[in-house]
Amino acid sequence: MRSFLLLFCLTTVYFIVDAAKILVYCPSISKSHVLLCAKYADLLHNASHDTVLFIPSYSSLLNDYDGAKHAKVWRLHNVTDAYDKKFDSFADVMENSHIGFIDRMTYDVDFWMDMCEDVVKQFDRLQPLIDYQFDLAIFNDIDPCNPAIVRSLNIPKTALLSRLPTLPSYVPSMEENPNHDRMSFFERMSNAYKYFQSIVVHYLQDRRVLHIFRKHISPDFPSITGIIRNVSLIMVNTDEIFDISRSYSPKFVYVGMIGAEKHANVTLSEDLDKIFSKGKLGSVFVSFGTVTPFRVLPKRIQSSIFNAIQKLPDYHFILKTVPGDTTTAEMFAGVPNVDFVNWVPQNTILKHEHLKLFVSHGGMNSVLETMYNGVPMVIMPVFTDQFRNGKNVERRGAGKMILRQTVTTETFYDVIHEVLKNNNYETAAKRISRMMKSRPFTPEERVTKWVNFILDHDTFDHFHLESNNLSFFEHNHLDVFFVFIVLPFVTYFVFRRVLKSSS
Ligand SMILES: *[C@@H]1O[C@H](CO)[C@@H](O)[C@H](O)[C@H]1NC(C)=O
Ligand SMILES: *[C@@H]1O[C@H](CO)[C@@H](O)[C@H](O)[C@H]1NC(C)=O
Ligand SMILES: *[C@@H]1O[C@H](CO)[C@@H](O)[C@H](O)[C@H]1NC(C)=O
Ligand SMILES: *[C@@H]1O[C@H](CO)[C@@H](O)[C@H](O)[C@H]1NC(C)=O
Repeated sequence: MRSFLLLFCLTTVYFIVDAAKILVYCPSISKSHVLLCAKYADLLHNASHDTVLFIPSYSSLLNDYDGAKHAKVWRLHNVTDAYDKKFDSFADVMENSHIGFIDRMTYDVDFWMDMCEDVVKQFDRLQPLIDYQFDLAIFNDIDPCNPAIVRSLNIPKTALLSRLPTLPSYVPSMEENPNHDRMSFFERMSNAYKYFQSIVVHYLQDRRVLHIFRKHISPDFPSITGIIRNVSLIMVNTDEIFDISRSYSPKFVYVGMIGAEKHANVTLSEDLDKIFSKGKLGSVFVSFGTVTPFRVLPKRIQSSIFNAIQKLPDYHFILKTVPGDTTTAEMFAGVPNVDFVNWVPQNTILKHEHLKLFVSHGGMNSVLETMYNGVPMVIMPVFTDQFRNGKNVERRGAGKMILRQTVTTETFYDVIHEVLKNNNYETAAKRISRMMKSRPFTPEERVTKWVNFILDHDTFDHFHLESNNLSFFEHNHLDVFFVFIVLPFVTYFVFRRVLKSSS
């Protein structure tokens, strides 16, 4: 009987510790973001937590989309119409190769504030989230409003989906920055300038969000930086085997490719299998992501791709287009080695034996999935970290990057031809693939084990990084440098001077 009681107590305790209420807070800013949130929610639901994916509706196109297969989904409709109004066309972004400092203020600061204010004004509609008494909230900081919203929900623990910190001396910043970890002096100058920009942008974002929350929620609302520093865990959507190595707090865990392999064993439809098996020497998949289908590419780039396809008749090209696009098919009329697809199970396509190359925009998920499957890449980045990803693929030897402004009929053909003909790219890609497939823990294991760990322990303070509190001089040891090197020199020269003048 005693042992039975003990067992009973143990299982009860085990149950209490194990099954937590977890909120995944996820405004619908894009399909891929919602899908990523859904993967965390499903995974933690499967790990026997009571998980709710909460979607305040930003993009009305996504009103029916949640991507979750198992977790509960709660939605907040009609919160804002500001988001839809901001998205009209992406074509001009494609021709505009440079986003300046002032533009960044608009895109990265102003952009989010209308939605933030709209949500906060209707904060009473979030009351069910407070009443549910969640144990943990998971959120991303792409929208700078999210940390503050989550903070207002009085949830004791938080985990952030974000990026690793940038160290300007060897990590290229996120913004349209086609560099890798070894930068020349001028590249570092440019990187430092971009780093400075992001400090300013974050400062302004935080100030604006803080202003909104102090006005509507509480006059002593804490700073956004303070909220972010106090999260218990930061899950980063990248992979240590692919990405630039760097030093970081133990709060950061690499979880890139979460959920990707779960969906990878889809058998290809016969049609797709047939298309990807064409080509005497192999097939090439061309897709620049959902926001930039072939149709919106500038004419110059379209015709460079057209030319490269015609000059490589031994390869079969598969171009991703959008439903209703007839102009692309007209353009390629009479070209035998090309097919068009609207949607493909990308991670399954990447396992196709006949696929020799993926021409992509270099989004992080695409790059990781491609590297995981050992397929060489040609990357033409469109925005943000895609530039850095492209450069990193080059650095890892698994492909080439081509910048939009340098695309001409010759350059585009040359880079595709180079990656297809030179075996070194495939060898490097296969090597990364082998390492990624045998890495010690899967992203799914890391998410569930780390989330359970932070639920069981109070670690946000434990993993506190003191460098956050150091001044610039202390952090870079400039004060010590001054005392050891500069001071003796100055003293020496002053002393000599005095001796000289007195003799
Ligand atoms: C959750 O569990 C179900 C059934 O056991 C499984 O089919 C599904 O793939 C799992 N989902 C995730 C995200 O692990
Ligand atoms: C949103 O509001 C509009 C009008 O204000 C209404 O017609 C519509 O049904 C609402 N949608 C939802 C999902 O509540
Ligand atoms: C962060 O944690 C520290 C240490 O527990 C605490 O003093 C501080 O108020 C917290 N800041 C915020 C914004 O929660
Ligand atoms: C996918 O299929 C392969 C071979 O058929 C198998 O070895 C692997 O375990 C499967 N992966 C998943 C996640 O089911």
